[in-house]
Amino acid sequence: MSAYRIAIYPGSFDPLTLGHVDIILRGSSLFDKIVVAVLGNIEKKPLFSVDERMEMIRETFSDRTNVEADTFSGLLVGYATSKGATAIVRGIRAISDFEYEFQMALMNRRLAPSIETVFMMPAEEYSYVSSRLIKEVAMLGGSVKGLVPECVGQRLNEKLRSTTI
Ligand code: PNS
Repeated sequence: MSAYRIAIYPGSFDPLTLGHVDIILRGSSLFDKIVVAVLGNIEKKPLFSVDERMEMIRETFSDRTNVEADTFSGLLVGYATSKGATAIVRGIRAISDFEYEFQMALMNRRLAPSIETVFMMPAEEYSYVSSRLIKEVAMLGGSVKGLVPECVGQRLNEKLRSTTI
């Protein structure tokens, strides 16, 4: 087994929130490299394109050499294996997240027993923050300052100005 530990932090990240940032920072101190892997989404209609989402992640972590942004499609464990990762990181905010996460972790373990899922809790101040709520609040004119990185706040404003609701 390689001593260089790579973890994948997968998700939609539409858009990146400070809750995600908190988990990425925690992960980046536990692992040698953390790859933030944006799902090239097929079903949901995202607000930001995959490229835009990766740009915001790269901008936010431009000073962190061990945080990488990438995109993937297909099975997560297939992607994780192709990157040489030994762990999948997921954030758990509340008990309501648990059932879905538990099912995914066990399915992923069945598919790839050597890849471990590691759950992490974000700081309490972000325990209620989700990309879905961020978009809803921003679209309805509320402030999301302090809940998303600055570059995400700017992009949300630009996007919402150019989108007819
Ligand atoms: O942030 P999200 O949207 O909750 O992330 C969900 C994600 C991307 C982790 C999940 O949908 C996923 O892993 N999709 C890839 C397809 C796959 O491997 N499905 C089986 C998972 S058990």
